[in-house]
Amino acid sequence: MQVSNTLNNSPVQTLQFNGHKLFIKRDDLLNHHFSGNKARKLGYFLDNEFTGIKKIVGYGSVQANSLYSLAALANMKGWQLDFYVQRIADWIKAKPTGNYAGALKLGANIIEVQELSTNLDDYMSQKSQKLNADTLFVPEGGRCRLARHGIKKLADELLEYINNQHLANPVIMLPSGTGTTALFLQTYLPYKVLTCACVGGDSYLETQFAELESDKSLWPTILSTEKKYHFGKLYLEFYQIWRQLLKQTDIEFDLLYDPLGWITLLNYLDKQQGQEDIIYIHQGGLVGNESMLPRYQRKYESR
Ligand SMILES: Cc1ncc(COP(=O)(O)O)c(C=O)c1O
Repeated sequence: MQVSNTLNNSPVQTLQFNGHKLFIKRDDLLNHHFSGNKARKLGYFLDNEFTGIKKIVGYGSVQANSLYSLAALANMKGWQLDFYVQRIADWIKAKPTGNYAGALKLGANIIEVQELSTNLDDYMSQKSQKLNADTLFVPEGGRCRLARHGIKKLADELLEYINNQHLANPVIMLPSGTGTTALFLQTYLPYKVLTCACVGGDSYLETQFAELESDKSLWPTILSTEKKYHFGKLYLEFYQIWRQLLKQTDIEFDLLYDPLGWITLLNYLDKQQGQEDIIYIHQGGLVGNESMLPRYQRKYESR
């Protein structure tokens, strides 16, 4: 399979949702293989030559967007990808879908580490110390300082748009996993960056910020929710907002991060006086919908 490396400026679309005028930065349109978030976070690897490198090692969930994008990166560069996962469920093995299926097609070597004396994070951090010089290691979800490179480009595109359109009071919103994208965006932008914790809650997200930036004044603003959500679990309100968005805006958002992103944003907007120009970053991840959507349909549409 041929992987394209065209990562041009993504467009910004204006739309109305639930009575609010919003701007959507369409990073989902950047590139199918490096859908949005990964195009930015892996931008450093895409833009540079790595002489002597033959292999890339990553890890995470078997349905992670990063698995698919690392597989595409390896394919493009002629490297082997070794991607470590804790477990591959039997049903996925039997009928590969989404990011897992895409990565397999791109030639990824997906390694199950079943016998773990510790967690996958610690296991991989030990492993990363012992890799050969021809191997690059990418932390889970691309959470590393090298991600700055691509996120700066996103910040520059936003600044250009804001200046060209003379937006008076821009505020950026994007949902977080590791928080890498939101954190670096805030360090590059003189405007407020809002986010919400989709993985592990607010205190987990703050720990992630602290690992990348010690100056708290440069951290994004976390919008909290009263209800605690578990990453990857199905919630009726997530499915409802995802469907409303599709109906009203004709844009498909992802089913893992965006539903919470929109719920927290709408709560925030309800309390604001409406003077802000909200730019929501669509970070892609739509390949993951291939496995999430059937799960939602089975749960909420078969009754
Ligand atoms: C579609 C999508 N949205 C949001 C995120 C969260 O990004 P980050 O880990 O930089 O917070 C990810 C994860 O990489 C993602 O794939």
